[in-house]
Amino acid sequence: MRFTSICSLILTCVCCVSATIFQNSQERITNYPNTVIDTVGYQFQKYSPDAPELSYKGRWDSKHLSWWSAPGLKFGFTGKQVAITFGLLTTDKTLIAYRIDGQDWQLTNVTTGATHLLVSPSTPGIDLTGPISPSTFEMRVTNWAYGVQIDSVYVTKGDKLIELPNFGRSIEIIGDSLSSGYSATLEGVSSYAYGLAAGLGDTEYSITAYPGICAFDKVCWGNRRGMFYQWWYTSDVSPRASEIYGDKPERWNFSKNAAPDIVVVNLGTNDANAANNVTSEGYVAQYTMLVQGVHAVWPKAQIILISLWNGFDAVGNTYAQGSAWKSEIYSIYEYFNSPSYLENPVLYDPVKNVTYNANEPSSPFVHYFNTTGIMQHNDIGPKWHPTDVGNIKLASHLIQYIKMKFNWILYSTGPEVYHQTLYWNDQDTY
Ligand SMILES: *[C@@H]1O[C@H](CO)[C@@H](O)[C@H](O)[C@H]1NC(C)=O
Ligand SMILES: *[C@@H]1O[C@H](CO)[C@@H](O)[C@H](O)[C@H]1NC(C)=O
Ligand SMILES: *[C@@H]1O[C@H](CO)[C@@H](O)[C@H](O)[C@H]1NC(C)=O
Ligand SMILES: *[C@@H]1O[C@H](CO)[C@@H](O)[C@H](O)[C@H]1NC(C)=O
Ligand SMILES: *[C@@H]1O[C@H](CO)[C@@H](O)[C@H](O)[C@H]1NC(C)=O
Repeated sequence: MRFTSICSLILTCVCCVSATIFQNSQERITNYPNTVIDTVGYQFQKYSPDAPELSYKGRWDSKHLSWWSAPGLKFGFTGKQVAITFGLLTTDKTLIAYRIDGQDWQLTNVTTGATHLLVSPSTPGIDLTGPISPSTFEMRVTNWAYGVQIDSVYVTKGDKLIELPNFGRSIEIIGDSLSSGYSATLEGVSSYAYGLAAGLGDTEYSITAYPGICAFDKVCWGNRRGMFYQWWYTSDVSPRASEIYGDKPERWNFSKNAAPDIVVVNLGTNDANAANNVTSEGYVAQYTMLVQGVHAVWPKAQIILISLWNGFDAVGNTYAQGSAWKSEIYSIYEYFNSPSYLENPVLYDPVKNVTYNANEPSSPFVHYFNTTGIMQHNDIGPKWHPTDVGNIKLASHLIQYIKMKFNWILYSTGPEVYHQTLYWNDQDTY
């Protein structure tokens, strides 16, 4: 049965933060620099975690603790040093990616309660000035289940943080393990969801994706709630969220981030697994209400429903792409584009858990993205998820789809998006 192995994987992976990264069974070298410092002897200007100069990306809670996939922190700074103290709720050893300006990502494992010097006079590119000005610092958490807590941020005494304006457009991806980068080499920052958003360039993004989650609100692979419920909350369905918030998570305040222009939904692969026992009617009903809710909070957002490839099978002497909820997802797309819906749209209120009528017509806002033919059987790794190459293919097709359908300009024209994908044949003269 497809995806049955995910369950045990998720449950076991949660315990072992310093798991080895494997590429085709070869250990990937992960001796990332240890950036922990003793702050004694440094002359720092200290900022609190709610300093207005700090821009949190994705979902962070009132304790400045990060959730979901690839949450980030970004700010401008002067000088040649940036340090961050990570709070006591930080998952020890969490791998973060961080960069300055248009330089490549760097990686380091974060230690709970420690101060990390992430930018120093020896950081590559620190002496270069412009065209990006002021200098920017950006950080992303790579693993979906782990989080970091910002306790304080420092620059050199006499230097300062600078608030950066948000980019003028924004995108949200709502999904499960397939969107969170599960089993991709650098997880969240190897996912198609990250590659789509970062690859478009100059686009804010939030990836509310968590492995094993169903669209339907029920226990799936040990996750206590489905996306129909959890999407309205700041924290995800990880064991650390249960430890910290029990069954009383903080509601997400949608005015904290700019409203996205585009929302991508990739949900249902876990619902489709017989082990999770979700009915076709239940899936369609709650997926539909989730989209009605997204339309209620973000009435101008264009919503793209992704068809599910659900793996590949050997068929006779070749291979064929699978599928799941094919007619269901297409019927949801048709429902939102029907004249009766558009004349008087139905919206969803998560607080009261009821639908209601907008009493005001809408133009079409739901789109269908057909994934058939984008990946092939060897773009799926042995853990049932896209390989790095599979993620890149899907991201690239989505980027082109969005460019053509919504006239989006591709602003990312040089700086690295995917890290550690520079492999090629260096024996070209044989
Ligand atoms: C850093 O994180 C990576 C990814 O989780 C892990 O493979 C590695 O063992 C960690 N390194 C240390 C020193 O904890
Ligand atoms: C939601 O966030 C906005 C912007 O940060 C803030 O002004 C508002 O007070 C918040 N609302 C609640 C209920 O916390
Ligand atoms: C699946 O749902 C049906 C109908 O509610 C129920 O009868 C059955 O016991 C469930 N099976 C499992 C494995 O939970
Ligand atoms: C919300 O409403 C739906 C459909 O009316 C129902 O299936 C679901 O159980 C409700 N959820 C909660 C948490 O009450
Ligand atoms: C998706 O694409 C495949 C391959 O081109 C095609 O057979 C299928 O009909 C498409 N599905 C929809 C709903 O358009």
